Amino acid sequence: MEWTKEERYRRLEDTDPEEISGLAARVARCPWRQGYHIQPETGLLNDPNGFAFFHEEYHLFYQWFPLGPVHGLKYWYHTSSPDLVHWTNRGVALKPDRDFDSHGVYSDSAIEHNGRLYLMYTGNTRDKSWERMPYQCMAQMERDGRIHKFSSPVISGPPSRYTDHYRDPKVWKQKNCFYAVIGAQRSNLTGCAMLYRSIDLYKWEEVGELHTRLSDFGYMWECPDYFEFDGQGVLCFCPQGAKLNDPGNIYPSGYVIGDPLNVETGEFRHGNFRLLDHGFDFYAPQTTLTPDGRRILVGWMGLPDIVYPTDDHGWAHCLTLPRELRVEGGRLYQVPVRELQAIRGRERFADGKISNDTLSPAGFAGSRYELIIEFNNVDAVEFGIRLRTGEEEGTNLVCNTRESRLMLDRTLSGRPIAEEFGTVRSCKVNPLAVKLHLFMDTSSVEVFVDDGREVFTARIFPHEESRGFSIFAKGGDVLYRANMWAIEVEG
Ligand code: FRU
Repeated sequence: MEWTKEERYRRLEDTDPEEISGLAARVARCPWRQGYHIQPETGLLNDPNGFAFFHEEYHLFYQWFPLGPVHGLKYWYHTSSPDLVHWTNRGVALKPDRDFDSHGVYSDSAIEHNGRLYLMYTGNTRDKSWERMPYQCMAQMERDGRIHKFSSPVISGPPSRYTDHYRDPKVWKQKNCFYAVIGAQRSNLTGCAMLYRSIDLYKWEEVGELHTRLSDFGYMWECPDYFEFDGQGVLCFCPQGAKLNDPGNIYPSGYVIGDPLNVETGEFRHGNFRLLDHGFDFYAPQTTLTPDGRRILVGWMGLPDIVYPTDDHGWAHCLTLPRELRVEGGRLYQVPVRELQAIRGRERFADGKISNDTLSPAGFAGSRYELIIEFNNVDAVEFGIRLRTGEEEGTNLVCNTRESRLMLDRTLSGRPIAEEFGTVRSCKVNPLAVKLHLFMDTSSVEVFVDDGREVFTARIFPHEESRGFSIFAKGGDVLYRANMWAIEVEG
């Protein structure tokens, strides 16, 4: 169904509550509702926003259009958690109700200062001829959860030489100063990130562009995030339109690592761009620090402009599980946060050798589980696992040892999704020993390969009965060792 501009820009406050409760009831009946991922009760979720630990709790907001599975008038929705695993819905945090954010409270970040949580976001506005004007804005959240917006933007309009694609401020503190990176598009229609600084979060001063090696890399950089690890600087961003090896990956999300950013000049010397995720549905990630110093990343498990099977049920998308980051050998590793072990239920174990065969270990089945499987002593040509198998369905993770490649194949996963962008994604691995750590939920799978060296994130939409699991080897044999935990969710 096509949505008109009027329908997309209808306000939640002007909507009959019965319409919302009717939509929520329809969404709740959807067979693809997730068990333990953050998902919207109605409508569309996109970027994670304002991820921070504040006043004894994690706070995670997200971009939300409440009225249906399309990109329309955006709100910030608020969730919080004591442990990064159990999340409570807290309702709308920021509404598009001011002149400077009338057409959407856009992304992005939060920082604690003087006992308050400051939320920095882009106010999206449109004039009568639908010309866009973005403002960078601030709000503050008190300990009791009350939120007040500043009465005017802290950065008004993009500087000359940049277009109206100027958004997503990610703020951090370094020494006694605050800094923010903002995603931007130059007037020559190339993407970049801008650097700002402030001593009090109220008055912001432009430092200038981040000087990177990527001067012509895509037409707009969305959702930049900068942080440091052991004396190295990491810049994550989503370079829209950047040319990559896989032409099917039209919404890349990745990072570069280098020397720490020079915050006086914007100079950033770094290595090659790498993807954060090799799967299909991953975008606009954001990181924060835990009180014990871990850097945690959460992403949007979805992509812009793609039709998903849940659209017919009145909702779209969810967030990824939180992942702990580390830097090793010049690259980012990502592993699921250890807190997730709290939802492990009944455990199964299997090990053995498999030769030119497929087998299903006893009790290894389900639609919500955590799995760790290690393959060793490989002399097979191909080996791997099949997930969510049913009569004619299955999602395959296949290691091709001749090509040293691991492939995630969702060709037969269930309801097709965005087939025009390909149904197989892959990455390089050492085929002699492969370790897969994965989380299966009703309609998604997140696969952490070789202790987080690579990750694949994908939505899948199998039949409810497709709950089978098998291990296979072709053209030789392989040793395997597997643990599966059912994931128990309340409600
Ligand atoms: C990325 C993005 C951001 C923007 C937000 C709007 O997905 O386009 O650049 O702030 O979504 O919802």
